[in-house]
Amino acid sequence: MEKSKATCEPKNHRVVYNLFTISFMTTKIVFILSLACTLLIAGCGSTKEEKPQPVDTSAFSEGAKPAEQTPAAKHPGEQVYKSYCATCHQANGKGVSGMYPPLTSSVYIENKDSIIHVVLNGLKGEIEVEGETYNNYMAPHSHLSDQEVATVISYVRSSFGNNYDPVTEADVASVRKK
Ligand code: HEC
Repeated sequence: MEKSKATCEPKNHRVVYNLFTISFMTTKIVFILSLACTLLIAGCGSTKEEKPQPVDTSAFSEGAKPAEQTPAAKHPGEQVYKSYCATCHQANGKGVSGMYPPLTSSVYIENKDSIIHVVLNGLKGEIEVEGETYNNYMAPHSHLSDQEVATVISYVRSSFGNNYDPVTEADVASVRKK
């Protein structure tokens, strides 16, 4: 008899207690989940920071190798391109539809004089590139040196899927004189 009394009382308490714990647990779960998310995000950030470490150790063992590879892999005209062309034609040369034509079509690029002329004197009026019509204006870039124009054009002619031979400073100088 004593045992049944003892088991009965806590049962009533449990119902109330359970309702209370359920609501308490949900807030607790939400809190834990948000904490877990923050930890995950913080964790991702720290793994990104950790990644360069193995590269650093290899740099120690094989000295100047990574430093030599970087400039060799990059075309010298890439920096000029980023400074003077990428704002409009984009870093990937794909341009902006309806605004800035891509530099992936052969039309103005395969002919040396034609692309030198566009860069030095700019371009105005209706043109069609890769089936799309552009009627915009590109400012002249005659303030760039023959060397800068030659290197940037050589970069364009050998990037974005283009495969044409480089342009020399003499090529640029001769078009500039015309
Ligand atoms: C301020 C924006 C702007 C900048 C900077 C610019 N261009 Fe252009 N470019 C244009 C526009 C706009 C056209 C199309 C003009 C038209 O509609 O007649 C164009 C056309 C061209 C064309 C001929 C069309 C084509 O897509 O083949 C070439 C080649 C070209 N640009 C190369 C360059 C190079 C190389 C540079 C950097 C030296 C450069 N542009 C910088 C806006 C720009």
